Amino acid sequence: MPTPTTLWGGRFQEAISEIAHLFSSSIALDGKLWREDIRGSIAHARMLGEVGIITKEEANAIIAGLEDIANEIEAGTFRFDDSMEDVHLAIEQRLTEKIGAVGGKLHTGRSRNDQVATDERLYLKHAIPELADKTSEVIRVLLDKAEEYIDAIMPGYTHLQRAQPVLLSHHLLAYVEMLARDRERLGDVLHRVDYSPLGAAAFAGTSYPIDRAMTARELGFASVLENSIDAVSDRDYLIELASACAIIMMHLSRMAEELVVWSTREFGFVTMSDAVTTGSSIMPQKKNPDMAELIRGKVGRVYGALINLLTLMKGLPLAYNRDMQEDKQPMFDAIETTRDSLEMMALILRETTFNIERMRSAASGALMATEIADYLVREKKVPFREAHHISGRIVTFAEQQGKNLDKLTLNEYRNFSERFDSDIFEYLDPRRSLIEKKSAGSTHPTMVKEAITGWRRRIP
Ligand code: ARG
Repeated sequence: MPTPTTLWGGRFQEAISEIAHLFSSSIALDGKLWREDIRGSIAHARMLGEVGIITKEEANAIIAGLEDIANEIEAGTFRFDDSMEDVHLAIEQRLTEKIGAVGGKLHTGRSRNDQVATDERLYLKHAIPELADKTSEVIRVLLDKAEEYIDAIMPGYTHLQRAQPVLLSHHLLAYVEMLARDRERLGDVLHRVDYSPLGAAAFAGTSYPIDRAMTARELGFASVLENSIDAVSDRDYLIELASACAIIMMHLSRMAEELVVWSTREFGFVTMSDAVTTGSSIMPQKKNPDMAELIRGKVGRVYGALINLLTLMKGLPLAYNRDMQEDKQPMFDAIETTRDSLEMMALILRETTFNIERMRSAASGALMATEIADYLVREKKVPFREAHHISGRIVTFAEQQGKNLDKLTLNEYRNFSERFDSDIFEYLDPRRSLIEKKSAGSTHPTMVKEAITGWRRRIP
């Protein structure tokens, strides 16, 4: 338990209450940042030695001690526990235990305020590319499926009502577009993460002749943050990251929702393998799409993280405030939940087969009504509005007769307009309607194939 001998205890005469200590300890969460904390400290110690604020020997002793601690943590011989306040103090305290008073020189010219922001940014410099890779993996599986099912036709939907036939691959490529934007967004965030706060000290800078550029370089940051107050009080990078994660999760959730709906007996468009489905304890016939549902469900945690961070920061006066310690939980939760969900989505998609017969038969029938109107417009020069009206009446008639549009006779068509000829039936072939599409980015099979090739080049 911290006593007046704790690292910051100089001006205190009594120990902090146990309840207050436990309330304020963050070691259970920020303990995860130990690698980054040690890396940051090594860079700082080396710089202190280089510029002569401490001797090279002292710097070397500190660095060796920190490397030892990293090994101890890795090996599990040094464990964090509740008696520690946070990862920074725990490591510094251990350092002094190991190498004696010289360990106390490490904190010269810095503060936990710039230290924690440095740790987080180092962590993100690793976590963000990892998220981008997982996003690419889902894209690759989507492209694999788009290639595998290149001939499959499905009904496209608006209002979840069958609307017009499209290629399944075209539908899958819509998700590729979303995830590619997600990757780009992650890259944008990474760009703004890539600045070193180290050396801002508590917030005002320091009177020691530290070299911030040197530590930034050693830690692999592109540059240093210019304003020391901003350096310790900024958490925009976490809010941006949580926002990028929230958008990824929203995309995964839409995909998950379609997989759930498509796997119902009513749709029957997909079958997910046993590897990603579960059974029911009382209903033997069930094969439930739990993994897709869990992705859909986990979105709330990530949206929560974003709102959490926005709320955390909104009322904070400059510069550092202890409130900011609460940023760890949403940061880790957003990253880990998004990472796991991306991984799971890649697996689900790999384990999904598309029932192309079911899809194709759902893509014929009333949803060819647009083609009937197109036929009248293109072949018979009927104004579109009139054609739309005629086609609508034919659809109603077919429904009343309980027949598909391609099962009506030519005479029945002629009852609605004498301009129909037998070539109307060619228009009722869903594949023809795809081939008729001419606009860029449409579901025309050639354009879809080109899109797949294009994405393969961009996302190898
Ligand atoms: N554990 C703290 C955090 O994460 C470290 C910074 C503490 N600084 C302070 N002045 N109390 O925010």
